[in-house]
Amino acid sequence: MIATIRPTRKLEGSITVPGDKSISHRALIVGSIATGESTARGLSEGADVQSTAACMRALGVDIEGSKIRGVGMDGLRAAGGPLDCGNSGTTMRLLAGLLAAQPFESKLVGDESLSRRPMDRVAGPLRDMGAAVAWPPLKVGGKTPLRGIDYEAPVPSAQVKSAILLAGLYAEGTTSVSETVKTRDHTEVMLAAMGANVTVDGLRVEVDRAESLQPFDIDVPRDFSSAAFWLAAAGLMDGSRVRLLGVGVNQTRTAFADTLTSLGFVITRNRPRLEAGEPVADLEVGPARPVGPLHVNGNGAARMIDELPVLAVVATQLTGTSVIAGAGELRVKESDRLAATAEGLSAMGADIEVQEDGWVITGPRRLEGARVDSAGDHRIAMALAVAALIADGKTEIEGAECVDISYPGFFDHLEYLA
Ligand code: S3P
Repeated sequence: MIATIRPTRKLEGSITVPGDKSISHRALIVGSIATGESTARGLSEGADVQSTAACMRALGVDIEGSKIRGVGMDGLRAAGGPLDCGNSGTTMRLLAGLLAAQPFESKLVGDESLSRRPMDRVAGPLRDMGAAVAWPPLKVGGKTPLRGIDYEAPVPSAQVKSAILLAGLYAEGTTSVSETVKTRDHTEVMLAAMGANVTVDGLRVEVDRAESLQPFDIDVPRDFSSAAFWLAAAGLMDGSRVRLLGVGVNQTRTAFADTLTSLGFVITRNRPRLEAGEPVADLEVGPARPVGPLHVNGNGAARMIDELPVLAVVATQLTGTSVIAGAGELRVKESDRLAATAEGLSAMGADIEVQEDGWVITGPRRLEGARVDSAGDHRIAMALAVAALIADGKTEIEGAECVDISYPGFFDHLEYLA
């Protein structure tokens, strides 16, 4: 599908973005091994989360709407064939951890993009735990019991951390993961709420073997990483006022909002509350007179990893030369996001140079509509859509249907706000 986007003067209105993708995956996975029925209202309806639901069903779990009928720690059954993780790295990596600890073997497959993504980062520590892991293609499980390890993560990754913690629920003794930057902590938060013995000490998280997990009843917060596109767009357009309702504002996710604020964006948090042990608020964003330039290092990059493509769009509007570095991980996401972002924004007239691990962007530049390519990557399609809103002339985004991975309804929201 080609999305045609025309420039817009301002964005106005209140919207509810999809349920948090990271929390939705985790709810389906750990709800599946709880003892009894869990309820997770407002799960993401994106294709990635549907991949996780389909895998859990194939493993013998009854999932219907918001209901997850947990089969208990030892209740999963071998699937009849390979488990299809689609485009979803979170599905493949988290399930690698859970399934490495099962007495049967599972094969995990994905689409072309996922098949190219690195899995050695989960295979290594899982093997250290005593698990049978082959890759590629990814086959895990059948060799139990596992043993707890103390893992020092070389790459900041919540997916890897979560995979090890899930395997740790089945391992003898205690399993710990130490990070260099604190990545999203939804797995820890959810497991603790379900009665697992989880201890967090700064950058180190520890989990004990669990005999059982209690089911939960939660409202999934709305996805900050989806809200991010509107925070950027509304801030860049004079006269805008956008309200984003019930957005998860867990500190491990909101570095992008802090960065925008430091650039002069005005983002207000209203009605702060807790849902499912996670902080939530209604966000309101108005127009800004952003100042630049922007400097992001590896620490900052890790904390706003999913928001970096849209941050690059913001940087095109800042005065001076912005440097976003330490973001080499973007090369191994759903696409090579460093290349795809630069290609799209260059075609639109931005002054953006790709480095090995980031971008150098000089602004402000008036963007021009162009025909651009999503590279089949949902976050690239949405970042380029934000660029298109502030550009002169019409933009056509090829492969725009990929927004369905995390944000079905993105273009409806765009039309409603514009
Ligand atoms: C995710 C972790 C991040 C992020 C992805 C979701 C998660 O990946 O980019 O969109 O739900 O744990 P990495 O762990 O590979 O950084």
